[in-house]
Amino acid sequence: MQEIIEKLASVREEAMSALKAAPSVDEIEKVRVKYLGKKGAVTEFLKSLGAVDPSVKPAVGKAVNEARDAISRGIDGRHSELKRAEDDLRFKAESVDVTLSGRRTVLGKRHPLNRVMEEVLGVFTRMGFAVREGPEIETEYYNFEALNIPKLHPARDMQDTFYVKDDLLLRTHTSPVQIRVMESMRPPLRVVAPGKVYRRDADVTHSPMFHQVEGFMVDEHITFADLKGVLTVFCRAMFGAETKVRFRPSFFPFTEPSAEVDISCVICSGKGCRVCKSTGWLEILGSGMIHPEVFRHVKYDSEKYSGFAFGMGIERIAMLKYGVNDIRLFFENDVRFLEQF
Ligand code: FA5
Ligand code: MG
Repeated sequence: MQEIIEKLASVREEAMSALKAAPSVDEIEKVRVKYLGKKGAVTEFLKSLGAVDPSVKPAVGKAVNEARDAISRGIDGRHSELKRAEDDLRFKAESVDVTLSGRRTVLGKRHPLNRVMEEVLGVFTRMGFAVREGPEIETEYYNFEALNIPKLHPARDMQDTFYVKDDLLLRTHTSPVQIRVMESMRPPLRVVAPGKVYRRDADVTHSPMFHQVEGFMVDEHITFADLKGVLTVFCRAMFGAETKVRFRPSFFPFTEPSAEVDISCVICSGKGCRVCKSTGWLEILGSGMIHPEVFRHVKYDSEKYSGFAFGMGIERIAMLKYGVNDIRLFFENDVRFLEQF
């Protein structure tokens, strides 16, 4: 009997240390089969009980049962140990350190020209102007003829034109939108017309494609004082309340009288610097009272109605506002440039 008990003890020992070392659920299962399975070592002891001397049978039986229960508990224990280790690993992997600072999301930014465009349109829409657009491919009639620029008129050379074919061209300014709007509406009207325009022109301040905003207002009794008032409000809204505004006589075939509008230099406040070429002033737009010839083309009675119009270059305004000295920077889309706005 002593012999069986000792053998049993060593089998039990062996099983327990195999369990302790079992690295996975599969290995535990192998241990279970090896000791408690149908042909397992402990099961064999149970089977051999029949041959044991009846006087020691209860004691041996008890020892075998104890060994089986111990190994069973060992299996359960090792199971939960492995499960705990696995959970620990998973919790660690899934854990979030709420004290870490977040990853920064890189936000895109609006292009400086779009920002200036929106700002310009915002100032005018707040003064009651509606926004209208016209086509970039125009006819000679809308781009020139109806604006009192007849064929062979020298003013056509002022704006070197890209022709698409015979009568079709890339508009050289947004002024043709004046004609299109007035053809389809009767006064009173207040409209701004933004868009792309094209000219054979390229250097640090001129681009072959650039943006203009046209504006015009037509009603009975509109005077040059209205033009000055609206454009002064615009310049101060755009460049600051301190900005001085100057109206300088000029010429456009589609306005009479005409004036170019200068603002006091945004860099030197009028003292004189390189940007304003020591004059203290910067030109920002062309304007004037709409010419009776233009009204005749859209069948408005120029005895009854009068109006003013103006046109400005958005790139020019953006260059002044942000101190950009080369117009081409707006179109290269280098992020190192764009990020600065
Ligand atoms: C005109 O285009 C007139 N249609 C403006 C106007 C409208 C006058 C209504 C009166 C009544 P001008 O050619 O000067 O005018 O151009 C207006 C502005 O466009 C200029 O002051 C300048 O800021 C901008 N501009 C002209 N050419 C270029 C160019 N190549 N690149 C960038 N901006 C330009
Ligand atoms: Mg000009």
